[in-house]
Amino acid sequence: MSGRRLLCIGHRGAMGHAPENTLLSFRRALEMGAPCVEADVYYVDHHLMVFHDDRLERTTNGAGYLIDHDFDTLRSLDAGNGERIPTLAEVFETIDRRAGVNIELKGPGTARPVAGLIATLRKQGWPDHLILVSSFNHRELETVRGIDPFIRIGVLIAGSPVDAAAFAASFGAWSVHISLAFIDRGFVEDAHSRGLKVFVFTVNHPDEIYRMERLGVDGVFTNYPERVLSRQEGDGVIGWG
Ligand code: G3P
Ligand code: MG
Repeated sequence: MSGRRLLCIGHRGAMGHAPENTLLSFRRALEMGAPCVEADVYYVDHHLMVFHDDRLERTTNGAGYLIDHDFDTLRSLDAGNGERIPTLAEVFETIDRRAGVNIELKGPGTARPVAGLIATLRKQGWPDHLILVSSFNHRELETVRGIDPFIRIGVLIAGSPVDAAAFAASFGAWSVHISLAFIDRGFVEDAHSRGLKVFVFTVNHPDEIYRMERLGVDGVFTNYPERVLSRQEGDGVIGWG
């Protein structure tokens, strides 16, 4: 057993076990006991669609750019095992406050509709501490922050800019999310000294999980939630903490 508990974030649900970003994948993550899940989001034809790529080919039987299609066409596609591309609202219905949700804003124009959905979710009883909005697109995050300063923000970093943690802290972010390729102890210590949580993507191999524990990171995005959870004792706490 490990001494240090990593927050286990089911990447696109539990994409090592089910088609990514489908309701089946999010249900699998819940069944495994993941305290948090991550979902990628585009805004297409006035709907928030949970999808990772900008094109359809890799994960569906469709073709072309996601945003060039209307809602009914997207819903007619097979996203794997007969699953449909879900809306973000459907993902929240499925999770039903049994895990924290990280909404990763992928496409342009996602900030406003996501902030709108979160306002609705609040009225339905979702507490702020179960929702975390992140993006590589920091302008979208700025828009979210401008609409609703109470939404928790995670700054996603591409590469390893020298001032990344300082930027995230100045932004008022709650967490900073960095690739496994660039994480090191200096980054963790810098982020922690600024009051930021550090989450690392995408951590699947047991050796990497062990290394993240040793580095003192706070949580990992993983395609295989059981590999992180099996190293931990007792019932996990739901959500982002
Ligand atoms: O949010 C963490 C991670 O999912 C970011 O990269 O490409 O898997 O969405 P990607
Ligand atoms: Mg993602």
